[in-house]
Amino acid sequence: MLIGGCLAQQKQERHFPSDFIFGAATSAYQVEGGWNADGKGESIWDRLAHTKIQDVLDQSTGDIAADTYNNYKRDVEMMRELGLDAYRFSLAWSRILPDGTINNINEAGVTFYNNLIDEMLKYNIKPLVTLYHWDLPQKLQDLGGFMNPLFPEWYEDYARLAFERFGDRVKLWITFNEPREICYEGYGGYTKAPQVNRTDIGTYHCGKNLILAHAKAYRTYVTHFKPTQNGECGITISVNWFGPLTDSKEDEYAAELRRQAEWGIYAEPIFSEEGGWPKEISEIVAKKSIEQGYKTSRLPEFTNEEKKFVQGTYDFFGVNHYSSYLVSANEHKVDHPVPSILADVDVGVYRPPAWMPSASTWLVMAPNSVYNALTHLMRKYNNPPFYITENGWSEHPEAPLIDNVRIIYYRAALNSALDAIEAGVNLKGYMAWSLLDNYEWTEGYTIRFGLYQVDFESEQRTRTARKSAFIYKQIVKTRVIDP
Ligand code: NOJ
Repeated sequence: MLIGGCLAQQKQERHFPSDFIFGAATSAYQVEGGWNADGKGESIWDRLAHTKIQDVLDQSTGDIAADTYNNYKRDVEMMRELGLDAYRFSLAWSRILPDGTINNINEAGVTFYNNLIDEMLKYNIKPLVTLYHWDLPQKLQDLGGFMNPLFPEWYEDYARLAFERFGDRVKLWITFNEPREICYEGYGGYTKAPQVNRTDIGTYHCGKNLILAHAKAYRTYVTHFKPTQNGECGITISVNWFGPLTDSKEDEYAAELRRQAEWGIYAEPIFSEEGGWPKEISEIVAKKSIEQGYKTSRLPEFTNEEKKFVQGTYDFFGVNHYSSYLVSANEHKVDHPVPSILADVDVGVYRPPAWMPSASTWLVMAPNSVYNALTHLMRKYNNPPFYITENGWSEHPEAPLIDNVRIIYYRAALNSALDAIEAGVNLKGYMAWSLLDNYEWTEGYTIRFGLYQVDFESEQRTRTARKSAFIYKQIVKTRVIDP
């Protein structure tokens, strides 16, 4: 009786709101290729791939990638095949400004993005444009990149140019994609360009300059462009879920600390009512710094003026969400530990073996993952408009085109998104990662996220729809899961 009841309930159709935006996402370095075409300057990923090839799992580069630079019309055709409302892509800063600064504008780069945007608009596909998805012009990195106090000004100039050139047609802007990965992995660590590897101060100084740069670009947009262009501007933060292992107070506190360290440090200054860094993280880092012999905290404080300047600089919260972890206050209790990645906040994190693994070490299929993350953010930050700007499942290149596990993942994630909407979360849209297979950073082409498979051996970089593409198309068309 009970089982029958549950099954009947599961089979019920669930509808997305009619104005919900369905899309798919990519980023410039991962798909474009044309790394030095028509005046493009070198980026930090060009530099890494050309000089540290041993750090890329399959020793590959993004020099050609999916060759979207030459295949963009085919990409738009795929968006049409899927019936997408929107497509999220990023601008390569060094394609537009080869030296990073506005002294030298590469008009051919501007033309490439104009062509892509115009082709999308012919078919009513909304552009959701990320200004920065990890590919800093190398010339700016030579000056310290995100660590240079001038960084927010360089970025503001670049953002202004993008608003000027594309803002008549682009109505949704994302300033940065995943600050944690930019700062923690690229400046604190070694796993992303520019591999600065300053675990003590890299993450935090990069973080502060990134947040100031975001706020400058947002304010420039609101003051000078929004009144005539009528668009919206936000930031995308990677928000994986960190829940407590047990319902003890200690585990809940440990989970909260971990959430603050992972993404709170980027969200809190922008979205919270208090502004500035999360209090606990400030205190922990200040205490450790002094114990370690530093004169001041390794986490640079915001002045009151900076705090105010940053607070509230958003029209929406972009969430990249893929997976979940459980957190324990007592590491010894953890059976399947995931090595700690944060030097300053070291709490035990683990994953139950029952959560199905993907091809990526960090990505598993966890129950209620989207719901847990979004309802938490809703409560914490007073329910701003949200977009899921990435969500998806990875497989190995040899996996069949009939990608049933990816389909299970997408259905579960979308059901969980609907649970969140029903709980009151102001979720406006969902972007699948990814439209097509692409260069997965230091994992090269060994990891595939695409709704479309790309044959990286073929000169054309032939694209072929996977089964998940047909299922996603059906969901987008009907706005219903399990139609
Ligand atoms: C997040 C990043 O934004 C994107 O570049 C990456 O490929 C996906 N996650 C999958 O790892």
